[in-house]
Amino acid sequence: MLDVCSCAQTSNGVKIFIDSADIEEIKKYLDAGLCDGVTTNPTTFFKLGIRGEDIKKKALEIARLINPRPLSVEVTSENPKEIYRQAKEFSTWALNIAVKVTITDSRGNSLLSVINRLIREGIMVNVTAVMTFNQSILAAKAIHEGAKSSDAKKPHFVSIFLGRIAEEYGIETSFNVVKNFRGWLDLYKFDDVEILAASIRTPENIEYWGRAGAHVMTIPPEAISKSLLSARTKETVAQFIKDAKE
Ligand code: G3P
Repeated sequence: MLDVCSCAQTSNGVKIFIDSADIEEIKKYLDAGLCDGVTTNPTTFFKLGIRGEDIKKKALEIARLINPRPLSVEVTSENPKEIYRQAKEFSTWALNIAVKVTITDSRGNSLLSVINRLIREGIMVNVTAVMTFNQSILAAKAIHEGAKSSDAKKPHFVSIFLGRIAEEYGIETSFNVVKNFRGWLDLYKFDDVEILAASIRTPENIEYWGRAGAHVMTIPPEAISKSLLSARTKETVAQFIKDAKE
């Protein structure tokens, strides 16, 4: 049985980011008060057929639309020099851009030095493709130390791909990664780091990881609309409308 983590209770509640580059979907959730930010990655743009220079145009459009809420845009390189160059460029596009950088490259080499440097230089960073508790605390430490020596914008994010963890190790393991990481952040007062629950697929995922203590849930639009649906609600509303007419 999964527990509710008391540390999940904050005065602002859990934040919702929209995991999509679809402008109409983003507008819909902004209008409903359900959008505290937006996340994208190269796959998001690829799936929508957005390529090359159009990625910058789309990012600018989203950044303006949701301002001052953060928009995460991911670098497309695993070479630290190129990551640094791209991150500096993205950060000039709009003040509310958080640059997404994977925690390691595809061979497992750490990218925490470039991440720490970007944070020291005042860039908002979203450390992504995080899969374990140990990676989470190392990312948090790199962020926290970087943030100490700069006027960097806060918070920075650690994106844990919980859907992928749950697929491999089960939902309980994914729940414990979030719960333990949140406990660790609170214990050491790392208030410049927020846990971003990513790779959400279902309404149940939202429930589990929200309860586990994630500060932010980044949710694809389909999972939000599914969360709003209940056959019993539809049936009840239909009954009310019918009775009102009669
Ligand atoms: O923000 C990106 C993350 O949500 C990716 O999810 O579905 O590719 O594991 P997924």
